[in-house]
Amino acid sequence: MDSIEIIGGERLSGEVTISGAKNAALPIMAASLLARGVTVIHRVPRLRDIDTMLRIFHHLGVRGEFIDEDTLEIDATTITDCSAPYDLVRKMRASVLVLGPLLSRLGQARVSIPGGCVIGPRPIDLHLKGLEGLSARVDIEHGYVNATGSPLIGAEIYLGGRYGSSVGATINLIMAAAMARGTTTIIGAACEPEVVDLCEFLNLMGAKVSAMGSPRITVEGVDELQPVEYTIIPDRIEAGTYLLAGALTGGLLTLRGARADHLDSLIEVMREVGIEITREGELIMVRATGDLKPVDIATLPYPGFPTDLQAQMMVLLSAVPGISVIIEKVYPERFMHVPELNRLGARISLEGAAALVRGGRRLSGAPVMASDLRASAALILAGLVADGKTTVRRVYHLDRGYERMEEKLTALGANIKRVEDG
Ligand code: EPZ
Repeated sequence: MDSIEIIGGERLSGEVTISGAKNAALPIMAASLLARGVTVIHRVPRLRDIDTMLRIFHHLGVRGEFIDEDTLEIDATTITDCSAPYDLVRKMRASVLVLGPLLSRLGQARVSIPGGCVIGPRPIDLHLKGLEGLSARVDIEHGYVNATGSPLIGAEIYLGGRYGSSVGATINLIMAAAMARGTTTIIGAACEPEVVDLCEFLNLMGAKVSAMGSPRITVEGVDELQPVEYTIIPDRIEAGTYLLAGALTGGLLTLRGARADHLDSLIEVMREVGIEITREGELIMVRATGDLKPVDIATLPYPGFPTDLQAQMMVLLSAVPGISVIIEKVYPERFMHVPELNRLGARISLEGAAALVRGGRRLSGAPVMASDLRASAALILAGLVADGKTTVRRVYHLDRGYERMEEKLTALGANIKRVEDG
């Protein structure tokens, strides 16, 4: 198992290019199953989660492979199996996104129910509610969801949940509704840019999805979808992570290829802290200069502050003198990084879904354990400003979602290396 070692204290500067969005690439890969023929997807990041999705495709009898550095070719002319097995789904919850397309294309799908998750309970009840709303029959048996139904019938479906909208459930339902008979209206739909990207992809294939990006999406069913060539949006969470790294180390960093309009909530909060963020065409520049102030934030579905940047933001606020409060409203238990940050000298206390960050303390390097993808990124950020050496263990989490992070940080001047534990 690899670790990452960082010697803190280097100021990051220079330019970093943002990769394609993992959380857009995964649903778009799943949606390619809806078309007979060869789909070509550009700007796909090389990540472990993408490999896991490809392994599921191979299990389905679908060919999928990279034909150059970031271009994926998927041939779903035939699908020979309609199931996603536990061994693959337990590695990546997004595997559940093949449910909607398989059901739509084959009239049946059998997908393992994802188990527990370190960031909190992550049920799939809304995914199933959506499919049932389209008149599918859904049974749970031996740890699997069995869904059958042909044709699926369009309907008006309320999809809001206890924690707001669901990205995955919205995506599964849109994919299933794309070739259903009649019109589907999704009320309480997720508005995330990754949902919009999926809808753009589907529309290029010939689907009729409208009002994506709003909480009330309409999908008019069509008979058939065609394979297409498409380019994924840049990863807003990777971009946000680098903006925070730049601010934290007091450097001057430029992001190339990121979409500032997908980062409004983060940019607003960072400016409130006192960080300078400017734009010039497709470049975003970050610089931390004068005095920084604490802030109070709550994570929320888009366009609110993203839960996937909560841990990294916490590291920045640990460096800002004063008390900041972070309330986690999407995954109220997503705080596994807190004890690890405290090992590095942060002073963060938890009260339910709220974290109280007493900032302005100097961090000092130590061995720490990554618990999930975004927590790994947060620990690396902390290592960049901690005194001495920080070793982040279990970095396989990082490899699920950040493309070549240590390489990108090295190019920006960080003292960081990957160590194979042997
Ligand atoms: C997506 O997960 C992302 N994953 C997550 O990113 C991200 O944290 C999350 O959206 C929220 O933005 C992918 O896109 C592959 P949800 P998803 O359904 O779709 C509850 C990362 O680090 N809920 O929007 O699974 C759920 O428990 C990952 O890249 C139900 O109650 O998230 C949560 O509280 C981690 N029932 C809330 O809704 C359901 O059926 C939002 O979850 C589904 C969800």
